[in-house]
Amino acid sequence: MLTDTFGRKHTYLRISLTERCNLRCMYCMPEEGVDLTPGDHLLSSDEIVHVAKLFVEAGVDKIRLTGGEPTLRKDIVELTGRLHALPGLRSIGITTNGIALRRKLADLQANGLSLLNISLDTLRADRFEHMTRRRGHERVLETIEDAIRLGYNPLKVNVVVMRGVNDDEIPDFVELTRHKPINVRFIEYMPFDGNVWSDRKMVTYKEMLTAVAKRFPEGLERLQDPKGEVAKNFRVPGFRGSVSFITSMTKAFCGDCNRLRIMADGNLKVCLFGANEVSLKSALKEGATDDDLRAIISAAVDRKKAAHAGMFEIAQTRNRAMVKIGG
Ligand code: GTP
Ligand code: 5AD
Ligand code: SF4
Repeated sequence: MLTDTFGRKHTYLRISLTERCNLRCMYCMPEEGVDLTPGDHLLSSDEIVHVAKLFVEAGVDKIRLTGGEPTLRKDIVELTGRLHALPGLRSIGITTNGIALRRKLADLQANGLSLLNISLDTLRADRFEHMTRRRGHERVLETIEDAIRLGYNPLKVNVVVMRGVNDDEIPDFVELTRHKPINVRFIEYMPFDGNVWSDRKMVTYKEMLTAVAKRFPEGLERLQDPKGEVAKNFRVPGFRGSVSFITSMTKAFCGDCNRLRIMADGNLKVCLFGANEVSLKSALKEGATDDDLRAIISAAVDRKKAAHAGMFEIAQTRNRAMVKIGG
């Protein structure tokens, strides 16, 4: 088991499959994009499966594929199947912007993809272009419908809320949960390199609750939060779907953290925030044995801090651009 010095067991591995993305979301990366790591410094699919197997043997039972945009990786379907086949893995998911997902979704499902989170920050096409600096709103909406038809339940829809940008749409997103079996998750805006974060642009969990209460006087019913998940879950009584809040900034959930991350360049990152990383790619290149790799991984887990330093400190700390972390 990958247990850290605070007793947290790490059973959830996020693997970033690519640094590339087909959108340029304003909260994720600068308009001009980011410098990409050269191909020979990225993990190959064999290396990803090799390393993931070690994590699963050490107790990881859930893998989420992220990016950049994970569907841009050509062999994502095959890779999903190979990871799904690892004995001991219970679920495999992806977090995607939904732009290039449609043609691959049925094959991904057939290869074991069980969890699907789609990012969509606005219900308005013009605003989508503003926030993502690209087109494709209609395609994402269609893909969400496809995913519901394929039985992803709940389909999670991630909404990063930014003041003065999309915060007026909170009630409209809640309204979507009246008839659709979706889980809309409002996310507090977090600071990463190049995303020009400020606390003034962040809408807090508390403010979001107030915005919901204004349109839905019946209020929100609190639901139980599944173990190991970071969202606080609610439902408008009688609605088919649910509404959640990811409160990384104002109510951190580090005490229950069960996550580790592998970046596309093969770095292992034990916390979303902070530059504490170790290169599994270099170790592989230098011919590390599985025992060597296990030792590197457990030493990194041992160095994990109790909690992140707080939002203002994070904003001052060098990290990666979010597009190179994958959330
Ligand atoms: P589930 O498997 O459905 O629980 O998904 P998830 O919430 O783990 O992943 P997703 O990729 O949908 O991320 C949703 C939001 O939560 C994003 O803004 C992530 O950056 C954020 N998030 C994910 N993991 C962590 C974490 O360990 N710490 C913090 N602070 N935020 C996280
Ligand atoms: N703050 C909060 N969430 C973010 N995401 C990307 N950048 C940020 C940020 N700065 C979300 C994406 C996606 C998930 C992987 O992380 O919208 O849903
Ligand atoms: Fe885990 Fe770091 Fe996120 Fe806290 S900030 S929940 S320690 S990844």
